[in-house]
Amino acid sequence: MDIIRDPLALQRTCLNWRSGGLVVGLVPTMGYFHAGHLSLMDYARSRADRLVVSLFVNPTQFGPNEDLARYPRDPERDAALAREHGVDLLFTPDPGAMYAPDHATWIEVPSLARGLCAATRPIHFRGVATVVGKLFLLTQPSFAAFGEKDFQQLALIRRMVRDLNFPLEVVGRPIVREDDGLALSSRNVYLTPEERRAAPAIRKGLLAASEWAGGGLRSVADLTARLRAFYAEQMPMSRLDYAEVVDPDSMEPVTEIRGRALLAVALHMSKARLIDNILLEV
Ligand code: PAF
Repeated sequence: MDIIRDPLALQRTCLNWRSGGLVVGLVPTMGYFHAGHLSLMDYARSRADRLVVSLFVNPTQFGPNEDLARYPRDPERDAALAREHGVDLLFTPDPGAMYAPDHATWIEVPSLARGLCAATRPIHFRGVATVVGKLFLLTQPSFAAFGEKDFQQLALIRRMVRDLNFPLEVVGRPIVREDDGLALSSRNVYLTPEERRAAPAIRKGLLAASEWAGGGLRSVADLTARLRAFYAEQMPMSRLDYAEVVDPDSMEPVTEIRGRALLAVALHMSKARLIDNILLEV
């Protein structure tokens, strides 16, 4: 496995691969790998002739009071895991190499960067779209794989790829969970032992809501009120950021559950903000 830090060296290598007819797969990450990242790598490995993983804690997607400085990092362990999972090229740029001091160009997808996570993280999705766009241009992948835990991110990247004609396939892959149902996240390390014990209730609440919807509850206001009460009882140490039901493609809020709808939640614990979601199909 090669480790490349220079964006232009990455681009040269990937352009050579593509012009030789090779299928290049990309898994963009911010590192501190867990089984969710590794499952994306395994999936991409099974389809790609050359597998590129980017490991970059992208500063432009963090707000001024967010956890950029303390975001968990373990580059050596990450490199060993990437090697074990058959990665051909690990791209680990410095922020200064990705963003010139006078960087001035941004990709924005405003209609998908409203509500849900964008409500409390106003610059987050501009940073995500811009860095992912840059990674696509540097890597020229045939396909790129993302986890469905960050469902709003995935919908926004799909829209960006469609609207700007990036020549690649965006693949969403299922959420990987602990045995007790907690969605894997690099930020789970922020949980205290008490919060960790309570955290599987996030998923339990989503499953309960799916049953309520399956049992005929159609009103989103009623469903989210019940879910709020569930979390208040099961996770009194948490603060609900949002529990919303949206169209899974447009991320527009819906008031009645019909057909496919995405129920997404975010909860604050003392140091962690955890997100999860479930597709409701009625
Ligand atoms: O999901 C993430 O880890 C990040 O948002 C991404 C897609 C790697 C962009 O920095």
